[in-house]
Amino acid sequence: MSVLVTGGTGFIGSHTVVELLAKRYNVIILDNLSNSCRETVDRIEQIAGRAPQFVEGDIRDKSLIVNLLQDEPIEAVIHFAGLKAVGESVQKPLEYYKNNVYGTICLLEAMCAGGCKNMVFSSSATVYGSENRPPFNEAMPDGVTTNPYGTTKLTIERILRELYISDKDWSISLLRYFNPIGAHKSGLIGERPSGTPNNLMPYVSQVAAKKLKKLSIFGKDFDTADGTGVRDYIHVVDLAKGHIHALERVLGNSGLDVFNLGTGKGCSVLELVNTFQQVTGQKVPYSFEKRREGDIAECYADTSLAKEVLGWQAELGLEDMCADAWRWESRE
Ligand code: NAD
Ligand code: WQD
Repeated sequence: MSVLVTGGTGFIGSHTVVELLAKRYNVIILDNLSNSCRETVDRIEQIAGRAPQFVEGDIRDKSLIVNLLQDEPIEAVIHFAGLKAVGESVQKPLEYYKNNVYGTICLLEAMCAGGCKNMVFSSSATVYGSENRPPFNEAMPDGVTTNPYGTTKLTIERILRELYISDKDWSISLLRYFNPIGAHKSGLIGERPSGTPNNLMPYVSQVAAKKLKKLSIFGKDFDTADGTGVRDYIHVVDLAKGHIHALERVLGNSGLDVFNLGTGKGCSVLELVNTFQQVTGQKVPYSFEKRREGDIAECYADTSLAKEVLGWQAELGLEDMCADAWRWESRE
């Protein structure tokens, strides 16, 4: 069975392709390499012992996708491709809407033309906004997004819901990721932020590797146990495995489902930094700075729906996440 993976050379996409190949799916990656590199395909092959097909191209290129769907029967699309930097989205909103929202519309039109109506989509916990209270569950109302990136995710969720209402042949899974971190155990694939990282784990790893001087911890006065922000960090390999479960559901019946993919456990910035130092033996100098605009105190998932319906739950702990992130950072 063949699956098209948009954004398949990226951080989460590459780990998911490894899991798909292990489950004997044929994989066609479509990626424009705007935030990843070609070498990842060889590394995926090294891990999986089997190569995915790679097509360099853009999700906005409808005729390219229609041709791909006509060349061989493709049963489903796992759609990761998109821009994801919150701060950059505030500076370049049009690029974000064009790439994420318009790009998804082009992909969906091509899928309609090619007769493939099964999709797993990368959404984000950011759609819960700041009004809902954690643990976030899928039945909560949509939140108010505070940046263009978040709005693109919420908009695409709505487009997919409305598409399903209009045509019940579609089978769609909206996966709301919490905070994916870590890397593959082999140290061959992981996250490659361009420039200075915005997210916590790559920043911590680069401080440990002495590429950056020190970590700024944004805020020590949140209403949390130690005053620092709490998030639900999930190992990227657990997250990748969640996609196989969602794909199997999408292939098995039509419908539209929403699932949180997280661990259900909140972890503070200080807990993450301390665990990283213990597990790796590396020093991570830090200082406390003022809160980062838009940050909420706590964000963690209610994971019961994914467990009940998909039969999936995260298995790896914070120690694994830190050890694997460091192995990747120190091999790069
Ligand atoms: P990533 O940047 O590593 O991967 C995205 C991939 O998509 C890259 O390889 C990039 O080159 C490609 N791409 C971007 N625009 C494209 C286009 N128009 N056509 C073809 N390819 C294109 O990001 P990631 O962390 O792997 O995230 C994957 C998805 O998951 C994204 O949609 C992101 O918004 C979503 N997500 C990520 C996180 C996170 O913290 N990493 C959290 C929630 C949701
Ligand atoms: C985690 C915690 C920071 C950096 C973002 C997106 C979200 C989703 C995942 C895509 C917070 C603190 C961070 C630093 C720090 N992405 N921090 N110093 O903000 O929870 O989520 O990535 O969908 O949409 O918003 O992740 O890793 O940036 O921050 O103290 O240098 O670490 O304040 O408490 P966030 P993050």
